[in-house]
Amino acid sequence: MNRADEVKATLTRRFARLTTNAVTRWPQLWPVLRPALRFQFDRLAPNWDRIVSPDHMAPYEAALASIEAPRRVLDLGTGTGAGAFAVARRFPDAEVIGADLADAMIEEARRKTPPELKGRVRFEVADAANLPYDDGYFELVGLANMIPFFDELARVTAPGGHVLLSFSSGAGTPIYVPLERVRAELSGRGFVEFADFEVGAGSALLARKAEST
Ligand SMILES: C[S@@+](CC[C@H](N)C(=O)[O-])C[C@H]1O[C@@H](n2cnc3c(N)ncnc32)[C@H](O)[C@@H]1O
Repeated sequence: MNRADEVKATLTRRFARLTTNAVTRWPQLWPVLRPALRFQFDRLAPNWDRIVSPDHMAPYEAALASIEAPRRVLDLGTGTGAGAFAVARRFPDAEVIGADLADAMIEEARRKTPPELKGRVRFEVADAANLPYDDGYFELVGLANMIPFFDELARVTAPGGHVLLSFSSGAGTPIYVPLERVRAELSGRGFVEFADFEVGAGSALLARKAEST
């Protein structure tokens, strides 16, 4: 990477962190920040799988290994689909949707979908701040390195279902929210059981929604 590319990558990471900090505190800022963030991820999409490390989903996978098979799963901020594919492989009966704001990410994810997963995994352009899914539709909602919009997360998760957030490099991940903050936000929205996972530098949090809220 030359000097100009290094500077561009640093600015991109800083903007992702700034956006995460801003919209998790003040979600009303999202419409202002959304076009620039989407532009960045559309630009990164063709090279995304070369940018991430081979084990960047390890904390996500560790949390998946601890739950019973869900039927309907949303991988939110799916990027090129790594989380959706991991879920589909671990749970062979699950119907999986990977959703992302960036069209170019969704195009890559569709292109990469292996033939054996095509019937069960589909990819859609959608905004996590305003999801086109019914209340309580998903038994698992996973986010790897993705900004959480807590109201929508709680809305689309089924009673008794799980939300999983993972950060590939823990607090060093550009899109990162401290796990105690995630826990507090979800506690206030009817989530009752929490488990933390650490794999290498990565971390994850799994939260279960109460059967009735
Ligand atoms: C850091 S990438 C992570 C991609 C993938 N989960 C992974 O770990 O490889 C964050 C992804 O979230 C998407 N994203 C950001 N904000 C979003 C939103 N509000 N709704 C849906 N996707 C969003 C971006 O377009 C990007 O693809």
